[in-house]
Amino acid sequence: MSIVVGTKNDVFLLSTENTSYAFGIDDRGLVRHLYWGKKLTSAEDLEMPVLTEVSTNDPVFEITPEEFPVHGGLRYKEHCLKATFADGTRELVYQYCGYDLEEGEDWEELVIHLKDEHYAFTMDLHYKLYPRYDLMERSVVVKNEMEEPIQIEQLHSAQFHIPYENLNFSNVHGHWGAEEQQFTQRVSYGKILIENRRGTSSHNHNPYFILDRDATETTGEVFFGALRMTGNFSGVVEQTPYGETLVQMGINPHDCLLQLAPGQSLRAPAILCGYSATGFETMSHNLHRFALDHIMSKGLRPVLYNSWEATEFHVNCQDQIKLANKAKELGAELFVLDDGWFGERHSIQNGLGDWYVNEGKFPNGLEELIDAVKGLDMKFGIWVEPEMVNPKAQLYQEHPDWIYHYDTRVTDTSRVQYVLNVTKPEVQEFIYNMLDNLLTRYDIDYIKWDANRPISQTGPQRDIWYKHIQVIYGIVTALKKKHPDVLFEACASGGGRIDYGILGIFDDFWTSDNTDAYDRLYIQNSYSRIYPIKAMRAWVTDCPNFLSGRMIPLTFRYHSAMMGSLGIGCNILKFTPEEVELSQKMIRQYKEIRPIIQEGTFYRLDNPSADSYFLYEYLKEDKGVLFAFLPQSKVGHRGTTIRLRGLEENARYTLHTSQGDITKSGSYLMGHGLPLRLSGDYASALVQFEKNQ
Ligand code: DGJ
Repeated sequence: MSIVVGTKNDVFLLSTENTSYAFGIDDRGLVRHLYWGKKLTSAEDLEMPVLTEVSTNDPVFEITPEEFPVHGGLRYKEHCLKATFADGTRELVYQYCGYDLEEGEDWEELVIHLKDEHYAFTMDLHYKLYPRYDLMERSVVVKNEMEEPIQIEQLHSAQFHIPYENLNFSNVHGHWGAEEQQFTQRVSYGKILIENRRGTSSHNHNPYFILDRDATETTGEVFFGALRMTGNFSGVVEQTPYGETLVQMGINPHDCLLQLAPGQSLRAPAILCGYSATGFETMSHNLHRFALDHIMSKGLRPVLYNSWEATEFHVNCQDQIKLANKAKELGAELFVLDDGWFGERHSIQNGLGDWYVNEGKFPNGLEELIDAVKGLDMKFGIWVEPEMVNPKAQLYQEHPDWIYHYDTRVTDTSRVQYVLNVTKPEVQEFIYNMLDNLLTRYDIDYIKWDANRPISQTGPQRDIWYKHIQVIYGIVTALKKKHPDVLFEACASGGGRIDYGILGIFDDFWTSDNTDAYDRLYIQNSYSRIYPIKAMRAWVTDCPNFLSGRMIPLTFRYHSAMMGSLGIGCNILKFTPEEVELSQKMIRQYKEIRPIIQEGTFYRLDNPSADSYFLYEYLKEDKGVLFAFLPQSKVGHRGTTIRLRGLEENARYTLHTSQGDITKSGSYLMGHGLPLRLSGDYASALVQFEKNQ
């Protein structure tokens, strides 16, 4: 058993292969945190410290490490839950009412039952352990068992206590075209807030926390958690005056009010969390492996061609067929027709909502293109943005009341579009039927689902910030049930929906509209800390890059995109014979190494050189791949040393370098390492290796 209950039934020790988490119930019935860190061997060692108030101004609640602090009483720290009862009472007082244990194939779950001492309102704290992955999922289910509704003003899924001060907190900042910009800051007194208020999750911050004690990739303590939610989240890190650091994450209370009708319950989004005593690498490995085994759909992702950067809105059947033929010649397996195929969609001005095939662009229907693509033995994908409507679209003319709006206000457009109120049943039906018809009528294998603006003017409903995405999850889940072989890509103006809420419902992430191969190294590096490589769509695109204006050699662009699920987004009709040949070679090589890239173990390697090399390794069973990038060599043009990770010390490995094969032991490659010297700007190398038999 990984969950051990103390002999007095008052402490719970939850252990995975290398970590433990513990809490207990004190004599007042409070659920108190006791431990999070390296594995403990006995629940009997755990003690419930007697807490005395620091002073009359520092009530005992302020120093009580609660697992799920509620609003009420002498509590002034951040609370996870604030509810208002029908009689106006805004205070919660819970009582402990017992626990339940459940077990599955590779998980165990402990549920702690809490109940308000006066009102028929319950709070179940869920702790689901995945021992093999050193991970736990925490969430809470609240239930209204009263005759009147209850209003939920704040619902964070869990509180974590880290018994240290001066930790480092990492997350990402960014915006469109500049997602996943990693930052790390010292936690000091006061609070750090990361959040989204726009309706998506992740252009500006990402719903996870990483707190470390000066850890490196391979050393030091790291506490982390990723929220399984898309949309408005909030996360608070607080170093208290009492010698500890608190973290909470959950639904953003900003402008949000959730109603619990009589008999209704609500499950807060889970937080997938863990502890590593061996740096960030272990954190990434545990999350990646769990995502591959438990969250993501199975199977390798196809090499795709997407026509967006080549044609933008200037789509027509014959040009798309030409692109498809060329994409096939290069080796692509999936052809994705992006924006511009429907309604009067000739620019961002019109078309969204009118999901009929544009006859001018496709005079013989979509079938002509799809038949051509299928005739090439490729899969076919198509772009949609179902949550949106342009003011000029027929849909809006017919249903002006289908958008989020206030009757007395002008509704803001953004990218010349409004957001549909997907909480209306008729809108849900419209979106589901539109997509179901599309998938039923045409032979479609891949949907790129976009969402290109923030939500505003939400109308009187204050719960849409949470409900909007729940509806989208529901529609896609229902579509996948009926069309189980279709893959869905989550795109929101690039990487606006990269999170563990959407992953599993959708299959791929569009990582960013920034396809500059050098910028992508930063984006991909920080993405990889939390999210699995297989979901990371990365395209090779034309130079000069439309965003950065940079010229980067095609080899470097391929290598950068081959670090994820490869796509090509160039205007390939303009490729020279040399570019065609190079693309064929690269795509062939990608297909060979694809299982290692998409399903292997990923390492961010140390670069001991003063030159800014980016070094990565992927390892699956006996085979591996190394990537080395040198965006710019500095004066002195130094080389670097690649010290590999994860090899067997005594086994021998052969590395296929551009200088010829090199055979060394695992211990040598991990200790001494492989010297490598790249020269010039935007230089890169890809080295395949395998264990000798
Ligand atoms: C934003 C996406 O991120 C792009 O890849 C492309 O699909 C455009 N939308 C199309 O409008």
